Amino acid sequence: MAKQREVYVCSSCGARSMQWKGQCGSCNAWNTLEAVAVAPAGRNTAARTAVMEAPVALKDAPDSEGATFSTGLDALDRILGKGFVPGASALVGGEPGIGKSTLLLQLAGYVAATGKTALYLSGEESISQIKARAERLGALHDTLQALCTSRADDVYPVLESSDAPDLLIVDSVQTLTSARAEGLPGNVSQVRAVATELTELCRKSNTAVLFVGHVTKDGSIAGPKLLEHMVDTVISLEGDRHQVFRLLRVLKNRFGPNQELLVFQMQGQGMALVDDPSTYFLGARDPSLSGTAVVMGMESQRPFAVEVQALAAKTFLSIPRRTGLGFDVNRLHLLLAVLEKRLRLNFGQMDIYAKVGGGLRMQDPGMDLGLVAAVLSSLYDIPLPERALFWGEVDLNGQIRPVSGQGLRHDQAKRLGYGPLFFPAEDGKGVRTLADLQKAVFGKDAPVMRKTPPSGPPPDSRTGEK
Ligand code: TYD
Ligand code: MG
Repeated sequence: MAKQREVYVCSSCGARSMQWKGQCGSCNAWNTLEAVAVAPAGRNTAARTAVMEAPVALKDAPDSEGATFSTGLDALDRILGKGFVPGASALVGGEPGIGKSTLLLQLAGYVAATGKTALYLSGEESISQIKARAERLGALHDTLQALCTSRADDVYPVLESSDAPDLLIVDSVQTLTSARAEGLPGNVSQVRAVATELTELCRKSNTAVLFVGHVTKDGSIAGPKLLEHMVDTVISLEGDRHQVFRLLRVLKNRFGPNQELLVFQMQGQGMALVDDPSTYFLGARDPSLSGTAVVMGMESQRPFAVEVQALAAKTFLSIPRRTGLGFDVNRLHLLLAVLEKRLRLNFGQMDIYAKVGGGLRMQDPGMDLGLVAAVLSSLYDIPLPERALFWGEVDLNGQIRPVSGQGLRHDQAKRLGYGPLFFPAEDGKGVRTLADLQKAVFGKDAPVMRKTPPSGPPPDSRTGEK
C-alpha cells in the first residue's frame, strides 16, 4: 500500500511547503501552515466525480451550453461580462457581517423571479432564518429553494438529478464538509475538497455556482485565497461595518473585464446599488472651512470625488502626533517630510491629523496632492477655492507625478463641474512641483514660515547633501 504523505499548506494564501514553518514563506503570515494529507495516487478528492474523459478536437467540441442569464442588476451583469455563466463558478469573499449573505440571497431572489431555479445552500443558518431574511428582501419566489446542511454531499444528488438548479449559492464554503476529506469544516483540506467537488458537479449540470468565503484577519479559518485559482470569477465585498456603503470589486474574471467596482448601500431592505457614486463620498462638505480638499481619487478604474481633511494644531507633546485615517499613515509622514524640506515649512511643533471622508480606505497614490493641499490649507488657515479639485502623486523631490487614469479623472472632473483643477503637469498644463502648487493656490497669502535658513546650498539644488 502506498504510504500517505503530508504537505503543509498555508491557510491564508494556499502556498505549499514540504516542512512545517512558523511563517509562511509566500505571504509572511504567522502560524498559518496546516498539515494536509496527500492521498496516495488514485484516491484524490475528485475521485468521486471522476469519469474517464477522452480528448476531443476543439473545433468539434460542443459550444457552451445554455445562455448566460441576468443577475437581476444590469450594472453587475455588465461588470461580470454578461451575467451568470451556466457551469461557471465564482467566489464572493469578505469579512463576516459585511453583507455577503444578504447580497447573494437578493441575487438568488432576482434570478428566481425570472422563473429560473436558485438553490441557497446554507451551512450557517436555519431554514426559518433564511425565510425571514428572504421575506424582508422580497426574494420569496416559487423557484427559490433553500437547503440547510453542513454536509456538502447532501446537495450532490440534486446536482446530479435532471432538475439541477440554474444557480447554486454556497454560504459558506468554510462551513461545509465533504465525506472524502478529513478534519473540521474550514480547514484547508475540507475547503479544497468541498470547492473542487461542487465546481466539478456544477460544471457538469450547467449550474452557475457562487461560493461565499469568509475572510478573517487572524487566519483562523482557511482563507478564500486558496480557492482563487479554482474559480472563474473572484469578487470581493469590502467596507466598514459601521458605515452604510459597501464596495463590490471584481478581482478576477474569465468572462469579462476585471478591476471593476460597484458601490452599494446597506439598507433595511438589503443592499441597494448607488447609481452614481462619483460624488457619493463627499457627504456634507463645507467648502468655507480651511483644511478640506476634494480629490479625484481612483479605485478599480472608477474615479470618485472624495473629501480629504487635515488639521494642523500646536502640539503639547515632545514628539508631535501624526494620525491618518482612510489611507496609509506612512504616506502622511512622507508628505510632511517633503513639505518641510521643499517648502521649508516647520511641522516640528505641530500635531497633524488627516482623514479621508466617508469612511473610504484609499490606496490611490493620486491622493497625495489633495492631502498636501489640505495640510497647507489648515496650516495657513485659508480655505481652498470652493470647487477646487486635486490629484497627483508627490515624489520625494517635491515633484508632482502623473497617476493612472488621467483621462478618466479629467472627464469626471469636467462632468461634475469642478474648477480650478490641480493635476500633474502634462503638455505645459498642470502643476509641476509643490512650490508651483503653493503659489497657484495660496499666491501671496501664504505666510512665510521659514526655518532658520540653511547654511550651504539651497535644499532643492542638485548637489545633494549640504
Ligand atoms: P450578512 O449578509 O449576514 O453578512 P455576511 O454574510 O457577510 O456575514 O449581513 C449582516 C449585516 O447586514 C447585519 O449587521 C445586518 C445587516 N442587514 C441590513 O442592514 N439590512 C438587511 O436587509 C439585512 C438582511 C441585513
Ligand atoms: Mg453570512
